[in-house]
Amino acid sequence: MNLITTVAEMVAARDALPRPLGLVPTMGYLHEGHMTLARWAKRDCRSVVASIFVNPTQFGPGEDFTAYPRDMERDLSMLRKEGVDVVFAPTVGEMYPQGFSTYVNVEKLTEVLEGARRPGHFRGVATVVTKLFTVVRPDRSYFGQKDGQQVAVIKRMTADLALGTDIVVVPTVREADGLAMSSRNVYLTPAERAVAPVLYRAMCRARDMHRDGTRDARALRAEMERMINAEPLGKLDYISIADAETLQELETVDRPAMISLACRFGRARLIDNIIIGIGQG
Ligand code: PAJ
Repeated sequence: MNLITTVAEMVAARDALPRPLGLVPTMGYLHEGHMTLARWAKRDCRSVVASIFVNPTQFGPGEDFTAYPRDMERDLSMLRKEGVDVVFAPTVGEMYPQGFSTYVNVEKLTEVLEGARRPGHFRGVATVVTKLFTVVRPDRSYFGQKDGQQVAVIKRMTADLALGTDIVVVPTVREADGLAMSSRNVYLTPAERAVAPVLYRAMCRARDMHRDGTRDARALRAEMERMINAEPLGKLDYISIADAETLQELETVDRPAMISLACRFGRARLIDNIIIGIGQG
Protein backbone atom coordinates (compact mmCIF):
# COMPACT_ATOMS: atom_id res chain seq x y z
CA MET A 1 0.00 0.00 0.00
CA ASN A 2 1.32 3.39 -1.05
CA LEU A 3 0.85 6.39 1.29
CA ILE A 4 0.68 9.66 -0.62
CA THR A 5 0.53 13.04 1.13
CA THR A 6 0.85 15.59 -1.66
CA VAL A 7 -1.45 16.53 -4.53
CA ALA A 8 1.45 16.45 -6.99
CA GLU A 9 2.36 12.86 -6.08
CA MET A 10 -1.28 11.75 -6.25
CA VAL A 11 -1.67 13.28 -9.71
CA ALA A 12 1.55 11.56 -10.79
CA ALA A 13 0.47 8.17 -9.36
CA ARG A 14 -3.11 8.02 -10.61
CA ASP A 15 -2.44 7.27 -14.26
CA ALA A 16 -0.41 4.16 -13.42
CA LEU A 17 -3.27 2.65 -11.40
CA PRO A 18 -5.20 -0.12 -13.23
CA ARG A 19 -8.77 0.83 -14.17
CA PRO A 20 -11.51 0.87 -13.13
CA LEU A 21 -10.20 2.95 -10.25
CA GLY A 22 -12.36 3.32 -7.12
CA LEU A 23 -12.19 6.19 -4.62
CA VAL A 24 -13.31 5.98 -0.99
CA PRO A 25 -13.27 9.46 0.58
CA THR A 26 -13.10 9.53 4.41
CA MET A 27 -12.13 11.70 7.33
CA GLY A 28 -10.40 8.75 9.00
CA TYR A 29 -10.92 7.18 12.43
CA LEU A 30 -12.23 4.27 10.42
CA HIS A 31 -14.89 1.79 11.46
CA GLU A 32 -16.86 -1.02 9.84
CA GLY A 33 -18.93 1.49 7.83
CA HIS A 34 -15.84 2.87 6.10
CA MET A 35 -14.41 -0.62 5.69
CA THR A 36 -17.59 -1.74 3.93
CA LEU A 37 -17.12 1.09 1.42
CA ALA A 38 -13.51 -0.07 0.90
CA ARG A 39 -14.65 -3.68 0.42
CA TRP A 40 -17.29 -2.73 -2.16
CA ALA A 41 -14.64 -0.72 -4.00
CA LYS A 42 -12.19 -3.64 -3.88
CA ARG A 43 -14.83 -5.98 -5.23
CA ASP A 44 -15.81 -3.68 -8.15
CA CYS A 45 -12.52 -2.07 -9.14
CA ARG A 46 -9.03 -3.06 -10.20
CA SER A 47 -7.47 -0.45 -7.92
CA VAL A 48 -8.67 1.49 -4.91
CA VAL A 49 -7.62 4.84 -3.48
CA ALA A 50 -8.89 5.73 0.02
CA SER A 51 -8.51 9.30 1.18
CA ILE A 52 -8.12 10.38 4.79
CA PHE A 53 -8.57 14.10 5.31
CA VAL A 54 -10.36 15.88 8.15
CA ASN A 55 -11.71 18.68 6.02
CA PRO A 56 -11.71 21.99 7.93
CA THR A 57 -14.10 23.79 5.55
CA GLN A 58 -17.02 21.48 6.34
CA PHE A 59 -16.89 22.23 10.08
CA GLY A 60 -18.63 25.31 11.48
CA PRO A 61 -17.00 27.69 14.00
CA GLY A 62 -18.47 25.98 17.10
CA GLU A 63 -18.03 22.44 15.75
CA ASP A 64 -15.55 19.66 16.53
CA PHE A 65 -12.81 20.14 13.88
CA THR A 66 -9.92 20.16 16.37
CA ALA A 67 -11.51 17.51 18.63
CA TYR A 68 -12.45 15.23 15.70
CA PRO A 69 -10.91 11.80 16.50
CA ARG A 70 -7.79 10.88 14.56
CA ASP A 71 -5.64 7.70 14.48
CA MET A 72 -3.62 7.50 11.27
CA GLU A 73 -1.59 4.41 12.24
CA ARG A 74 -4.68 2.35 13.00
CA ASP A 75 -6.45 3.61 9.85
CA LEU A 76 -3.48 2.66 7.66
CA SER A 77 -3.28 -0.85 9.07
CA MET A 78 -7.04 -1.37 8.55
CA LEU A 79 -6.84 -0.20 4.93
CA ARG A 80 -3.75 -2.30 4.29
CA LYS A 81 -5.66 -5.41 5.45
CA GLU A 82 -8.44 -4.68 2.96
CA GLY A 83 -5.96 -4.49 0.10
CA VAL A 84 -6.39 -0.78 -0.63
CA ASP A 85 -3.70 0.28 -3.12
CA VAL A 86 -3.18 3.94 -2.25
CA VAL A 87 -4.02 6.05 0.78
CA PHE A 88 -4.17 9.74 -0.06
CA ALA A 89 -3.74 11.68 3.20
CA PRO A 90 -2.90 15.28 2.35
CA THR A 91 -2.24 18.08 4.83
CA VAL A 92 -4.63 21.04 5.09
CA GLY A 93 -2.02 23.17 3.30
CA GLU A 94 -1.96 20.73 0.36
CA MET A 95 -5.73 20.85 -0.13
CA TYR A 96 -6.13 24.55 0.71
CA PRO A 97 -2.91 26.29 -0.30
CA GLN A 98 -2.30 29.96 0.44
CA GLY A 99 -4.83 32.10 -1.43
CA PHE A 100 -7.37 29.29 -1.94
CA SER A 101 -10.68 30.94 -2.88
CA THR A 102 -12.74 28.62 -5.10
CA TYR A 103 -15.76 26.82 -3.60
CA VAL A 104 -18.47 24.56 -4.99
CA ASN A 105 -21.99 25.44 -3.92
CA VAL A 106 -24.90 23.10 -4.63
CA GLU A 107 -28.13 25.08 -4.33
CA LYS A 108 -31.57 24.04 -2.99
CA LEU A 109 -30.65 20.53 -1.74
CA THR A 110 -28.22 22.10 0.73
CA GLU A 111 -30.71 24.60 2.12
CA VAL A 112 -32.65 22.03 4.20
CA LEU A 113 -31.92 19.50 6.99
CA GLU A 114 -28.20 19.41 7.85
CA GLY A 115 -27.52 22.31 5.49
CA ALA A 116 -29.99 24.53 7.36
CA ARG A 117 -28.45 23.64 10.75
CA ARG A 118 -24.81 23.66 9.66
CA PRO A 119 -24.32 26.71 7.41
CA GLY A 120 -21.43 26.18 5.00
CA HIS A 121 -21.13 22.45 5.77
CA PHE A 122 -22.09 21.19 2.31
CA ARG A 123 -20.08 23.93 0.61
CA GLY A 124 -17.05 22.44 2.38
CA VAL A 125 -18.06 18.87 1.48
CA ALA A 126 -18.78 19.71 -2.18
CA THR A 127 -15.52 21.62 -2.52
CA VAL A 128 -13.28 18.95 -1.02
CA VAL A 129 -15.00 16.11 -2.87
CA THR A 130 -14.69 18.00 -6.18
CA LYS A 131 -10.98 18.46 -5.48
CA LEU A 132 -10.57 14.76 -4.60
CA PHE A 133 -12.35 13.79 -7.84
CA THR A 134 -10.09 16.15 -9.79
CA VAL A 135 -6.88 14.91 -8.21
CA VAL A 136 -7.70 11.17 -8.22
CA ARG A 137 -10.00 10.97 -11.30
CA PRO A 138 -11.80 7.84 -10.10
CA ASP A 139 -14.14 5.82 -12.31
CA ARG A 140 -16.32 5.02 -9.26
CA SER A 141 -16.64 6.77 -5.93
CA TYR A 142 -18.14 5.19 -2.81
CA PHE A 143 -20.35 6.99 -0.29
CA GLY A 144 -22.47 5.77 2.63
CA GLN A 145 -26.26 6.13 2.86
CA LYS A 146 -25.57 7.01 6.54
CA ASP A 147 -25.09 10.59 5.33
CA GLY A 148 -28.20 10.67 3.16
CA GLN A 149 -28.21 14.36 2.30
CA GLN A 150 -24.50 14.21 1.49
CA VAL A 151 -25.26 11.45 -1.04
CA ALA A 152 -27.99 13.59 -2.65
CA VAL A 153 -25.68 16.63 -2.83
CA ILE A 154 -22.76 14.68 -4.30
CA LYS A 155 -24.95 12.95 -6.91
CA ARG A 156 -26.40 16.32 -7.96
CA MET A 157 -22.98 17.99 -8.12
CA THR A 158 -21.41 15.09 -10.04
CA ALA A 159 -24.20 15.19 -12.63
CA ASP A 160 -24.33 19.00 -12.86
CA LEU A 161 -20.58 19.44 -13.35
CA ALA A 162 -20.08 16.22 -15.38
CA LEU A 163 -17.37 15.12 -12.97
CA GLY A 164 -17.14 11.76 -14.74
CA THR A 165 -17.29 9.35 -11.82
CA ASP A 166 -20.07 6.90 -10.94
CA ILE A 167 -21.45 7.45 -7.45
CA VAL A 168 -21.96 4.14 -5.63
CA VAL A 169 -24.10 4.31 -2.48
CA VAL A 170 -23.44 1.74 0.26
CA PRO A 171 -26.19 0.89 2.81
CA THR A 172 -25.71 2.11 6.37
CA VAL A 173 -23.69 -0.27 8.54
CA ARG A 174 -25.13 -0.58 12.06
CA GLU A 175 -24.09 -1.97 15.41
CA ALA A 176 -26.01 -5.09 16.53
CA ASP A 177 -28.51 -2.89 18.43
CA GLY A 178 -29.19 -0.66 15.41
CA LEU A 179 -26.98 2.34 16.19
CA ALA A 180 -25.44 3.59 12.94
CA MET A 181 -21.66 3.34 13.06
CA SER A 182 -19.98 6.74 13.23
CA SER A 183 -16.58 8.09 14.16
CA ARG A 184 -18.45 10.45 16.50
CA ASN A 185 -19.90 7.55 18.55
CA VAL A 186 -16.68 7.73 20.64
CA TYR A 187 -18.10 10.93 22.15
CA LEU A 188 -20.94 8.91 23.78
CA THR A 189 -20.73 8.05 27.48
CA PRO A 190 -21.73 4.45 28.32
CA ALA A 191 -25.17 5.67 29.46
CA GLU A 192 -25.68 7.66 26.24
CA ARG A 193 -24.43 4.75 24.14
CA ALA A 194 -26.99 2.47 25.82
CA VAL A 195 -29.97 4.64 24.83
CA ALA A 196 -28.79 5.97 21.42
CA PRO A 197 -30.31 3.01 19.48
CA VAL A 198 -33.71 4.60 20.15
CA LEU A 199 -33.07 6.68 17.01
CA TYR A 200 -33.09 3.62 14.76
CA ARG A 201 -35.98 2.02 16.66
CA ALA A 202 -38.05 5.17 16.17
CA MET A 203 -37.36 5.26 12.42
CA CYS A 204 -38.23 1.56 12.13
CA ARG A 205 -41.51 2.17 13.97
CA ALA A 206 -42.40 4.91 11.47
CA ARG A 207 -41.46 2.62 8.58
CA ASP A 208 -43.76 -0.09 9.99
CA MET A 209 -46.63 2.38 10.50
CA HIS A 210 -46.18 3.55 6.92
CA ARG A 211 -46.14 -0.02 5.65
CA ASP A 212 -49.36 -0.64 7.58
CA GLY A 213 -51.04 2.32 5.89
CA THR A 214 -50.23 5.55 7.75
CA ARG A 215 -49.52 8.22 5.13
CA ASP A 216 -49.75 11.32 7.33
CA ALA A 217 -46.20 12.56 7.89
CA ARG A 218 -47.27 14.43 11.01
CA ALA A 219 -48.52 11.23 12.63
CA LEU A 220 -45.29 9.41 11.79
CA ARG A 221 -43.17 12.27 13.14
CA ALA A 222 -45.25 12.50 16.31
CA GLU A 223 -44.70 8.82 17.10
CA MET A 224 -40.93 9.11 16.53
CA GLU A 225 -40.79 12.23 18.72
CA ARG A 226 -42.69 10.47 21.46
CA MET A 227 -40.22 7.56 21.48
CA ILE A 228 -37.10 9.72 21.37
CA ASN A 229 -38.32 12.29 23.89
CA ALA A 230 -38.96 9.43 26.30
CA GLU A 231 -35.15 9.15 26.59
CA PRO A 232 -34.07 12.06 28.80
CA LEU A 233 -30.41 11.83 27.62
CA GLY A 234 -31.35 12.63 24.02
CA LYS A 235 -32.06 16.15 22.78
CA LEU A 236 -33.86 15.96 19.47
CA ASP A 237 -32.78 18.52 16.87
CA TYR A 238 -35.15 17.57 14.03
CA ILE A 239 -37.09 14.75 12.41
CA SER A 240 -37.78 15.04 8.70
CA ILE A 241 -39.84 13.01 6.27
CA ALA A 242 -38.87 14.28 2.85
CA ASP A 243 -39.06 13.34 -0.82
CA ALA A 244 -36.10 10.97 -1.23
CA GLU A 245 -34.84 12.86 -4.29
CA THR A 246 -35.59 16.55 -3.74
CA LEU A 247 -35.46 16.43 0.10
CA GLN A 248 -38.56 18.62 0.22
CA GLU A 249 -40.76 17.88 3.27
CA LEU A 250 -43.83 15.74 2.65
CA GLU A 251 -47.24 16.09 4.25
CA THR A 252 -48.46 12.85 2.70
CA VAL A 253 -45.96 10.04 2.32
CA ASP A 254 -47.10 8.83 -1.10
CA ARG A 255 -43.69 8.36 -2.74
CA PRO A 256 -40.21 7.17 -1.80
CA ALA A 257 -39.18 9.19 1.24
CA MET A 258 -36.17 9.67 3.46
CA ILE A 259 -36.87 9.73 7.16
CA SER A 260 -33.91 11.55 8.69
CA LEU A 261 -33.12 12.95 12.08
CA ALA A 262 -30.47 14.60 14.19
CA CYS A 263 -30.28 14.18 17.94
CA ARG A 264 -27.76 15.32 20.50
CA PHE A 265 -26.58 12.94 23.23
CA GLY A 266 -24.21 14.95 25.44
CA ARG A 267 -21.22 15.91 23.28
CA ALA A 268 -22.32 13.81 20.32
CA ARG A 269 -24.63 15.08 17.62
CA LEU A 270 -25.84 11.95 15.84
CA ILE A 271 -27.58 11.80 12.46
CA ASP A 272 -29.30 8.84 10.85
CA ASN A 273 -31.84 8.07 8.12
CA ILE A 274 -33.78 5.33 6.39
CA ILE A 275 -35.57 5.24 3.06
CA ILE A 276 -39.23 4.16 3.03
CA GLY A 277 -41.83 3.62 0.33
CA ILE A 278 -39.55 2.23 -2.36
CA GLY A 279 -41.66 0.74 -5.12
CA GLN A 280 -44.60 3.05 -4.42
CA GLY A 281 -43.70 6.08 -6.44
P1 PAJ B 1 -16.72 10.34 7.03
O1 PAJ B 1 -17.71 10.78 8.05
O2 PAJ B 1 -15.39 9.84 7.49
O3 PAJ B 1 -17.41 9.22 6.18
C1 PAJ B 1 -16.75 8.71 5.04
C2 PAJ B 1 -17.74 7.87 4.26
O4 PAJ B 1 -18.15 6.76 5.05
C3 PAJ B 1 -19.01 8.67 3.90
O5 PAJ B 1 -19.41 8.35 2.58
C4 PAJ B 1 -19.99 8.15 4.93
O6 PAJ B 1 -21.35 8.23 4.51
C5 PAJ B 1 -19.55 6.70 5.06
N1 PAJ B 1 -20.04 6.12 6.33
C6 PAJ B 1 -19.86 6.62 7.58
N2 PAJ B 1 -20.50 5.85 8.49
C7 PAJ B 1 -21.11 4.86 7.78
C8 PAJ B 1 -21.94 3.75 8.14
N3 PAJ B 1 -22.28 3.49 9.40
N4 PAJ B 1 -22.39 2.95 7.15
C9 PAJ B 1 -22.07 3.20 5.84
N5 PAJ B 1 -21.29 4.21 5.46
C10 PAJ B 1 -20.81 5.05 6.40
O7 PAJ B 1 -18.51 11.76 5.10
C11 PAJ B 1 -17.38 12.20 5.27
O8 PAJ B 1 -16.43 11.54 6.01
C12 PAJ B 1 -16.92 13.50 4.64
O9 PAJ B 1 -18.00 14.39 4.55
C13 PAJ B 1 -16.25 13.32 3.25
C14 PAJ B 1 -17.25 12.75 2.22
C15 PAJ B 1 -15.03 12.41 3.36
C16 PAJ B 1 -15.79 14.72 2.72
O10 PAJ B 1 -14.92 15.31 3.61
